[in-house]
Amino acid sequence: MKDEILKVLMTTKEYVSGAGLSETLGVSRTAIWKAIHKLKDEGYEIEAVPNRGYRLLIETTNLVETAIRLHLSKASRFTTIKIYETVDSTNSEAKRLKVNKSMNEGLIIAKEQTAGKGRRGKNWTSVKDEGIWASLVLVPDIAPTIASMLTLIAGMSAAMAIEDRTGLEVGIKWPNDLVISGKKVCGILTEMSTEADYINHVVVGIGINVNQTFFEEPLEAIATSLKIELGREVNRVEILTTFLNHFETLYEKFLKIMDLSFMIDKYNSMCVNVDQELRIIEHGATKQATGIKVTDQGGLMVRNKEGNTEIIYAGDVSI
Ligand code: BTN
Repeated sequence: MKDEILKVLMTTKEYVSGAGLSETLGVSRTAIWKAIHKLKDEGYEIEAVPNRGYRLLIETTNLVETAIRLHLSKASRFTTIKIYETVDSTNSEAKRLKVNKSMNEGLIIAKEQTAGKGRRGKNWTSVKDEGIWASLVLVPDIAPTIASMLTLIAGMSAAMAIEDRTGLEVGIKWPNDLVISGKKVCGILTEMSTEADYINHVVVGIGINVNQTFFEEPLEAIATSLKIELGREVNRVEILTTFLNHFETLYEKFLKIMDLSFMIDKYNSMCVNVDQELRIIEHGATKQATGIKVTDQGGLMVRNKEGNTEIIYAGDVSI
């Protein structure tokens, strides 16, 4: 019911009487009053004027389900959204929910993570309410060998969302770190459960630094947030839902053709490794190479010191 009241208030943009709302939605005026209070608790600013009714003044910027649903596309596959005050890691929680069979596809969001996980066993600092800490739970009917492409799709979707909503120029460091002015603003950790030739589920975990004002050493030198870059607070609901909408559009295309050809030109135009001298750590060994492009299969094509072309599918690449 909160969702319905919100839709009416957002489309009318004017005062809507309690009586009118109760008639349209077929519930009592007390029920309307209670729902309006819940919306206010979620951070919506709603004015109530005697004899005129209710008017929405400001949408909430809190990561609450009403706000997220309102901005997701109607056909969104994320019909299950779970939001936690605090959790160890949204990826770990997603995996627990899959093991318990209490979720098919969906979205897990935490306001705070106490044991956020980064790639290569690192920690991911996830301070309360300062960023977007979320995991997408997907059950794609694809071969396990191409599932890593989902990471690139998520990275590009997040880069597009940040550019759309802030105007900042975002670079993608292959395969999926997002950087602004050379510092990391977003990371993605994809984990999956597979059988020999099919996927049980994929968890795409995404961390976006949004409203941090500083980072402690040693992160200070390498991490940034949207707020640091812009000098103002950024609405997390807008960033998250724009990311999800982009992701769903790209994901649908990917499921039809099973490679990244439909988006690779744009990905390459945002990729900071192209035409750069790179240091690649692969299976413990370090080598130098020049980045050429990212391929339709998501590999990084490089020219090695001998002048030969090779494609890297896993490894740590630094500029
Ligand atoms: C990286 O090292 O770049 C990947 C960072 C991924 C962080 C996100 S935050 C939400 C999700 N839950 C986790 O524990 N990690 C991912």
